[in-house]
Amino acid sequence: MRGYFGIGVDRISKTMNVGNLFRSAHAFGAGFVFTVQAAYARAEGGKSDTSDAVTHLPFYSFPDAASMVLPEGCKLVGIELLDAAVDLPSFRHPAQAAYILGPERGQLSSEIIARCDWTIKIPTKFCVNVGIAGAIVMYDRINSLGKFSRRAERPGPPTEKLSKHQFGGRFTRAKMEEFRDTPPTEYND
Ligand SMILES: C[S@@+](CC[C@H](N)C(=O)[O-])C[C@H]1O[C@@H](n2cnc3c(N)ncnc32)[C@H](O)[C@@H]1O
Repeated sequence: MRGYFGIGVDRISKTMNVGNLFRSAHAFGAGFVFTVQAAYARAEGGKSDTSDAVTHLPFYSFPDAASMVLPEGCKLVGIELLDAAVDLPSFRHPAQAAYILGPERGQLSSEIIARCDWTIKIPTKFCVNVGIAGAIVMYDRINSLGKFSRRAERPGPPTEKLSKHQFGGRFTRAKMEEFRDTPPTEYND
């Protein structure tokens, strides 16, 4: 998959939520994770993050919104249930993205929203748990940008097979060349 993504939370206060989110981020292949103005017991994060994501991924802890720094060219995408937000199923994920979620109570701060290139919403009747919201957005990213066989027209597995599954690991130039040269008869059965 081209590009990278990071995911973080604004003013989070529950350790379990941070652990859950970071564990999912690790599993979905995030390049970095971050918090902004967090207020939780860092030492307990491991209880819900059995993958110990912060020992495998760069972790940034920004004291406030003004001090948040992102890689050059990285687009900030706010995840919030706002009327003006773009519906997630209609959103094209940027190749280089940082997603940010709001706190357990309240929503993304106006300072964070002002810095966002876009805000997106998951079409739900009401807010879901912050870790769940993050996982849905990350799943949508790999579902829409990853290389998977086209969904079948009828119930069941795909009928058209893909030559190579590109999700996971670094997508190097060599891998890209290899993918280009793979004859269509070589399938992932
Ligand atoms: C539990 S919700 C916030 C609680 C809610 N604003 C309230 O006080 O009733 C925590 C965060 O999850 C994310 N979230 C939850 N449901 C969402 C949805 N349907 N669309 C987008 N973001 C969502 C947002 O980032 C939100 O700030």
